[in-house]
Amino acid sequence: MEYNKGGRIAKLVSSTFCMAFAMSFMFYVANASDPTPLQDFCVGVNDPNSTVHTNGELCKNPKDVTIDDFIYKGFNIPGDTNNTQGANATLVDIARFPAVNTQGVSIARVDFAPFGLNTPHLHPRGSEIFAVMEGTLYAGFVTADDKLYDTIIKKGDIIVFPQGLVHFQFNIGKTDALAIASFGSQNPGRVNVANAVFGSNPRILDDVLTKGFQVDEMVVEKLRSQFSSENRSINMGRSILKLLSQTL
Ligand SMILES: *[C@@H]1O[C@H](CO)[C@@H](O)[C@H](O)[C@H]1NC(C)=O
Ligand SMILES: *[C@@H]1O[C@H](CO)[C@@H](O)[C@H](O)[C@H]1NC(C)=O
Ligand SMILES: *[C@@H]1O[C@H](CO)[C@@H](O)[C@H](O)[C@H]1NC(C)=O
Ligand SMILES: *[C@@H]1O[C@H](CO)[C@@H](O)[C@H](O)[C@H]1NC(C)=O
Repeated sequence: MEYNKGGRIAKLVSSTFCMAFAMSFMFYVANASDPTPLQDFCVGVNDPNSTVHTNGELCKNPKDVTIDDFIYKGFNIPGDTNNTQGANATLVDIARFPAVNTQGVSIARVDFAPFGLNTPHLHPRGSEIFAVMEGTLYAGFVTADDKLYDTIIKKGDIIVFPQGLVHFQFNIGKTDALAIASFGSQNPGRVNVANAVFGSNPRILDDVLTKGFQVDEMVVEKLRSQFSSENRSINMGRSILKLLSQTL
């Protein structure tokens, strides 16, 4: 009897636990933002000499914080679009604006020259909500299973680019375009697809890119030459055989 009672309670407890466990899955929604702050604010201090590292920046002493710490100026100034792509994304993140530290937000303006392109890129740490202020853009993103969602967006339209997915915007108008984008992270990061693959430092070795893209070295070299960030002297004599010999 006693045993049975215990068994019933155990059964009840375990089924309640199972239900709570199942419900936690049913209602689980990925948080597309940074962790919540543990205090009202934590205005960042960027001390390059600090030996202490945190997930974010250290906090400035609240006694020394003034309203000015929370104000960023110059967001009205367009980025220079006189570059090969004809676009310039100015991201006001933790690096430029210490007030966003621990707040889970950042903002960008994207300026487009006529037919300018914000090249395919992704933000590893933030979802993006993107509002067209001026102009008409062809925009899209690609899911993890290679499905493209693309459309034309005009002044007044807002589009969401899901976190971590490759996306782009192309100004299809003969006039400048402007968009304001917000992120659910103080530090969304930006990975340009072409730069990551063809402009890394040091370079990704030919064996990987020729096989990965099923093209010969000439094509790989041509693509690399488009991305000036490569430091050629770092790459002198690098090869898989040499790396292998260094690890033996
Ligand atoms: C960091 O340390 C260097 C060398 O000691 C010093 O010159 C510099 O002013 C320090 N920077 C800050 C921000 O404290
Ligand atoms: C974007 O604009 C800023 C400010 O004018 C400029 O310093 C920067 O070089 C530009 N970036 C590109 C890629 O043209
Ligand atoms: C754009 O940049 C090129 C080369 O960087 C320069 O020669 C040209 O004068 C610039 N054009 C404008 C309008 O600033
Ligand atoms: C390129 O790499 C070499 C070797 O590591 C380094 O000495 C040099 O400063 C680098 N140049 C640039 C522009 O980063």
